[in-house]
Amino acid sequence: MSELIFQRHRTSRYKAFSRALVRETHLSPADFIYPIFVQEDEGSTQIDTLPGIHRYGGKALLTHAREAAARGIPAIALFPQVPTALKTADCREAFNPDNLVCRSLRRIKDALPDLGLMCDVALDPYNITGQDGFLNADGTIENDKTVEALVAQALVQVAAGADIVGPSDMMDGRILAIRTALESQGYVKTLLLSYAAKYASSLYGPFRAAVGSGAHLVGDKNSYQMDPANRQEALREIKTDIDEGADWIMIKPCHTYLDIISDCKASFGIPTFAYHVSGEYAMWAFAAQAGALDRHAALKEILLSFKRAGCDGILTYAAFEAAEIL
Ligand code: PBG
Repeated sequence: MSELIFQRHRTSRYKAFSRALVRETHLSPADFIYPIFVQEDEGSTQIDTLPGIHRYGGKALLTHAREAAARGIPAIALFPQVPTALKTADCREAFNPDNLVCRSLRRIKDALPDLGLMCDVALDPYNITGQDGFLNADGTIENDKTVEALVAQALVQVAAGADIVGPSDMMDGRILAIRTALESQGYVKTLLLSYAAKYASSLYGPFRAAVGSGAHLVGDKNSYQMDPANRQEALREIKTDIDEGADWIMIKPCHTYLDIISDCKASFGIPTFAYHVSGEYAMWAFAAQAGALDRHAALKEILLSFKRAGCDGILTYAAFEAAEIL
């Protein structure tokens, strides 16, 4: 029988220099994709359930994007608040080359050509039902027709200057369809960031309020987004999307799904991103606002945990603030 050996694990922890030398995980502004809500009107509007976060329009949008870039954030993601009058059952505004997102993309790309621009590919902001795809009579979402619409949506975004398209709709076969369409149009440099493991989460509420899709939502999203109880299914979803041509993988939500981030990275070694969703942001923001925790220390610890779990980058509403304090 071997003897028990006394070990001094604390030797590295006594001083700041040695803690710094053995630190395994690091955070920097270069880790972030910063989501920005976009409105038609010039100026900005505070979002009540996301303390510190606004929608921006016109010149204010450009100014805010410029400030994000100046803080060292490599990419932003645009999420439009589509006017109710433009929400239809056929979601045609989603593939209007002059829609709010496309106009915003062109304007920002023109002024800030080095800033990465990402867009969500999903129909919910444009859909009269608030669903990510076309609603069947039985309350489920029609898969293949929705995929056709998503392809059209992705193509107008790329034509307007999107560097990254992020299908967040969870339809089957959409990565293959979008990749095939991009190839056929000669868009060989576009990054396809698949929300491969996106859960039917209760943590998207503030986002739905911010883009105005929540009030319209008919039914739930359980027939396409994943059951929060499932871990192995995520690996099958991710493998399929890699095989269909995804460049990068998004796990969403992430704060409550660290096991999925870890599994994805360990199993596939693919660039993996964590979506720190609106409800997760709100938990931290409201707790910090109430003085229940140290705002910046807690933020750094939360974001660090995503990287420790194995992700390469983080999409977070807190990116703007985090980039400043890091
Ligand atoms: C829509 C979409 C959602 C989010 C991003 N894209 C909402 C949903 O699926 O209902 C949520 C993001 C967040 O909560 O921050 N496809």
